[in-house]
Amino acid sequence: RGFLGLMALAALAGCGTGAAGNTGSITFTNPLRIPPVLDPLPGADGVKRYPLALRPGETEFLPGQPARTWGINGSYLGPTLRARRGDRVAMAVTNLLPEASTLHWHGMRLPAAMDGGPHQMIAAGGTWTPAWTVDQPAATTWYHPHPHGVTAEHVYRGLAGMFIVDDEHSAELPHTYGVDDVPLIVQDKVFDADGQLKEDFGGTWGLLGDQVLVNGTHSPFFEVKASRTRFRILNGAGAHVFTIGFADNREFQVIASDAGLLPEPVTVDRVKVSPGERFEVVVDFRPGETVLLKGFDGDSVIEAGDYDLLELRAAATLAPSPALPATLAARPPVEPGPKTRTFKLGGSNINGRNMDPARIDEVVPAGAREVWEIDNITYDHNFHVHEVAFRILDIDGAEPPPHLRGPKDTVYVPGKTKVRLAVAFGRHTDATMPYMYHCHILKHEDKGMMGQFVIVEPGT
Ligand code: C2O
Ligand code: CU
Repeated sequence: RGFLGLMALAALAGCGTGAAGNTGSITFTNPLRIPPVLDPLPGADGVKRYPLALRPGETEFLPGQPARTWGINGSYLGPTLRARRGDRVAMAVTNLLPEASTLHWHGMRLPAAMDGGPHQMIAAGGTWTPAWTVDQPAATTWYHPHPHGVTAEHVYRGLAGMFIVDDEHSAELPHTYGVDDVPLIVQDKVFDADGQLKEDFGGTWGLLGDQVLVNGTHSPFFEVKASRTRFRILNGAGAHVFTIGFADNREFQVIASDAGLLPEPVTVDRVKVSPGERFEVVVDFRPGETVLLKGFDGDSVIEAGDYDLLELRAAATLAPSPALPATLAARPPVEPGPKTRTFKLGGSNINGRNMDPARIDEVVPAGAREVWEIDNITYDHNFHVHEVAFRILDIDGAEPPPHLRGPKDTVYVPGKTKVRLAVAFGRHTDATMPYMYHCHILKHEDKGMMGQFVIVEPGT
């Protein structure tokens, strides 16, 4: 599927052709774009201030064919934000788009009024100024709009970025941004004959692209400089699931999932990433080699198929990297409490209901530990919960594979599958302002496959 599109595009763009097969289908002509880190403005009060502007622009994904896109402080995607545990941060999000939107901090633990969900709309021309104290372990989080009904469109046009949280252990792992610590925002697109982004969000899944971009770069290559390089993989697509690995099937280490580091590195040769999920991986390189990062087809209807992602070109001399620590995080796993809630995933509803902004679906006491049972009675979905970290207890009763036993906030739930989560809730109480839980297939979310919960003082 994806491969044919890439072939057609390569011919169209005059940027090379290749033989049919899983490799060699595109020529890697564009240096991987690394989103710049936005240095915060230091406030006299010690608060780190981040000015962000959502705005329309033009992006030349394909040579000579500027596409109309949206971006944050640029024409496509946004800067990488970075803060340390304990930092006080203050955002100024200005909306220069022709319509209202929001900016949600996916994976960030913060008060509901700062969350950037559908209740924090920013009118066209308006500015929203959330502020909070970063208080969570090191993790790769991200930000994207969350306006009810049009999230798929807003993210697809280019509104998304990474937000890296560091803590006192971050220096023990590869951490030189853009050198041995590299963001990989993976997203699919469809281009029309003029190189514009096609928008067709109908059908069961919304848009399923036939081109896969990394950090908004088409046909990208990256020059590897360190013998051990960390990649922060984010699936920023609307629906496609990416099963990522290497053309030579080499093994690599998974070191973190959505909400932070795994207890120890886990060796795999593929990692499946559904929309909204993140995995941090560490890959070993030999000097002078070239290796292809690829997507592989899988058994789901929303697998993106076989496609080339990124050519990694190792320098003739690689900076030696320290060994990975045997223990990454000493965090105790989330222990489930006695309370269980069940969420049945229907076609585009949860427990038979569609999102109603006026209805609170669940009331959770602050600091609760609960079991959330996600029972998918239909076709493929996934499930994301704001403001929490969870652990997968079991998938259809079986223990999850080791790389899925770490802290997460989004989980893939294939059709007719039941996943049980041990969920740790925070202590940001607000009885009237809800957080969201939803399928992160954005068209499903937009159609109302979303619910609302509030966190309240225990006993109220
Ligand atoms: Cu990534 Cu509720 O969102
Ligand atoms: Cu879904």
